[in-house]
Formats: sequence, C-alpha cells, structure tokens
Amino acid sequence: MKVKVCVGSNCTLLGAMSILDQIDDLKIIISEDSDNYNDEELEVEAIRCLGFCKNTDEKVAPIVVIDGETMYNATSQTVMEKIVNKIRK
Ligand code: FES
Repeated sequence: MKVKVCVGSNCTLLGAMSILDQIDDLKIIISEDSDNYNDEELEVEAIRCLGFCKNTDEKVAPIVVIDGETMYNATSQTVMEKIVNKIRK
C-alpha cells in the first residue's frame, strides 16, 4: 500500500506531521501482529504540495493519498482507519 502525506506548508500547519508519526507507530503495530493484519508493505512517502490547497477556497488540508485515493481534511484518525481497514485480515 502506498501512502503519501503532503508536507507542504498548509498541510503541515494543519497536522501532517502528526499523521506521519501515527503512521510510523501503526507500522510497528502491524509488523508485530501478523494474526490480524496481512503482510502488505506500507510504503510511506512525504510529498510536497500537489496544489490541492491552492486551487480552492475550501479548506482541504491536510491531504493524504492512499493507493491513489485522495483524502481531504485528513486526520490521524481517518487515515489510520482507512489503512487498518485495507490491511486487516
Ligand atoms: S500544502 Fe498540502 S496540498 Fe498544499
């Protein structure tokens, strides 16, 4: 699974770093619990602003892209839920 977290200034201001930290913690939990999670590798990448926050008046940051699906207004909780739902056995 590929997880891209925007670390542009808008997304960082609104919590992107905490999302990255939580994903790191989740990676450890997943690697230690092969009973409940499949062994799909979690590739995490910090990316620069893709322009989502610039082309709109709406609040969209933080942006996280999971396997090509863009999540707007991402929070640690919504991102963790999405990842866990995809890799839970
Ligand atoms: S800073 Fe993240 S989309 Fe612009």
